[in-house]
Amino acid sequence: MSKLFAKKNIAQLIKDAHDPNIEEGSGGFKRHLNAFSITMLGIGAIIGAGIFSLTGVAAANYAGPGIVYSFALGGILCAFAGLCYAEMAAMVPVSGSAYAYSYATLGEFIAWIIGWDLILEYAFGAVTVSASWSGYFVSLLTKTFGWHFSDTIMLFTKGPWEMVTLADGSQVHGLWNLPASLIALLVTAVLFRGIKESSFINNIVVVVKVTIILAFIALGWSVVDSANWVANEAASGLARLVPAEAMSVRHGQEYLSYGWPGVLTGAGVVFFAYIGFDALSTTAQETKNPQRDLPIGMLCSLVICTAVYILMALVMTGVVPYKELGVADPVAVGVDAITLKYGWSAGVKALISGTVKFGALAGLTSVILVMMLAQTRIFYAMSKDGLLPWFERIHKKFHTPHIATIATGVFVALCGGAMPMSLVGELVSIGTLLAFVLVCAGVFILRKTHPDLKRPFRVPAYWLIAPLGAISCLWVMYGLPMDTWLRLFVWLAIGFAIYFTYGVKNSRLGKK
Ligand code: ALA
Repeated sequence: MSKLFAKKNIAQLIKDAHDPNIEEGSGGFKRHLNAFSITMLGIGAIIGAGIFSLTGVAAANYAGPGIVYSFALGGILCAFAGLCYAEMAAMVPVSGSAYAYSYATLGEFIAWIIGWDLILEYAFGAVTVSASWSGYFVSLLTKTFGWHFSDTIMLFTKGPWEMVTLADGSQVHGLWNLPASLIALLVTAVLFRGIKESSFINNIVVVVKVTIILAFIALGWSVVDSANWVANEAASGLARLVPAEAMSVRHGQEYLSYGWPGVLTGAGVVFFAYIGFDALSTTAQETKNPQRDLPIGMLCSLVICTAVYILMALVMTGVVPYKELGVADPVAVGVDAITLKYGWSAGVKALISGTVKFGALAGLTSVILVMMLAQTRIFYAMSKDGLLPWFERIHKKFHTPHIATIATGVFVALCGGAMPMSLVGELVSIGTLLAFVLVCAGVFILRKTHPDLKRPFRVPAYWLIAPLGAISCLWVMYGLPMDTWLRLFVWLAIGFAIYFTYGVKNSRLGKK
């Protein structure tokens, strides 16, 4: 029993982070990243399916134009967690992130739970986003470029749980979501090749997506109809507080309750859009000066993305009545409205809509890249502790955890091709929130138990921020549907089975 709660010595963990075996050129990881590339990886990981798909649904169904406040609230919640991650990552700059922090604060069993839970965030996050990537890819080819796919090809654009429309208008189940699998394998190849190459490709993709998003905001801003923000006050009214209705909305039973309760529910929905900044902490052993660069990268990317999201939400709800945004591609609806207001021709409209889809594809690609990157580093860290086999091996030439990379790539490609998306999306959020809760708790605990540790970055007013971070994440978890909780428990049960049959026997700490 005592083995289960054995804690890693925090001083040893910090020392391990400076192990000469993981310094540059020794056959371990390469320290290539700096504050700029970390910030770019952060923006790469954050801006993706959330803003390109979820915003519209959250605005139409829950928050109305108040979605802007939902984004602001989501940003504040993530800032609490982001500050705590920054303190931990600077203090313990190892690739295991939340998993490693909990190993030192809460013991091996909780660390295993969180490591296993992080698969929900990173690997299943990549799965969810690869399916969204596939949707935008097929739409770009068929709608923008006018390609015609035969029925046989169409069957390979969606997984077995989704419906495909054939040439004669009939609907059948898809066979395999091939584009989702292919993008996962392509990203795997990049990750396998090296952190420098991955960061370089991420930089290009981020520049493309941010440029296109800023162009959208600039074009839309001049044709915003401010009546869209206020005209529906009776229905969407931010002034209206309806607690009773809010309760039913929280559990996903009833739509169309707006006001502040709707804003809060909207914040839970758009939380997905913020996931990703924490993935940066898994690159600690590949960062030149992790103590300085990780806090800068995490907090800067979070601030930049919050600003972009709020501006996007203002433009989207300003150019289109929010009710019309409840579709899978709300940005495309916004583009149509903008081109209409400028009175541009059909050709220009097609060009802009194609460009935006291209931007979305770029955005989604970098999210998949950083999520999969983070997953490989978590597998690496767990394997180094003996809790998982094989994954600790580092490629001699490319300095990447190649076995973990291949395993992650194959897993994401298989799940992306076949899994129903409705099953994984909210699992990603609940898994991430659980990790955030434990990191906030860890910061608080370590301040009490190890007040003298060197902390290159300190959470201001930790006694307030860390509990607020944990409580607000628990609150968002509480608002998620019951079946998501059930899936979380099933996932954790599978994790327990693996831990008790493999991890307990092979744990290096346990053997000591
Ligand atoms: N934040 C990432 C996205 O929205 C997961 O795609």
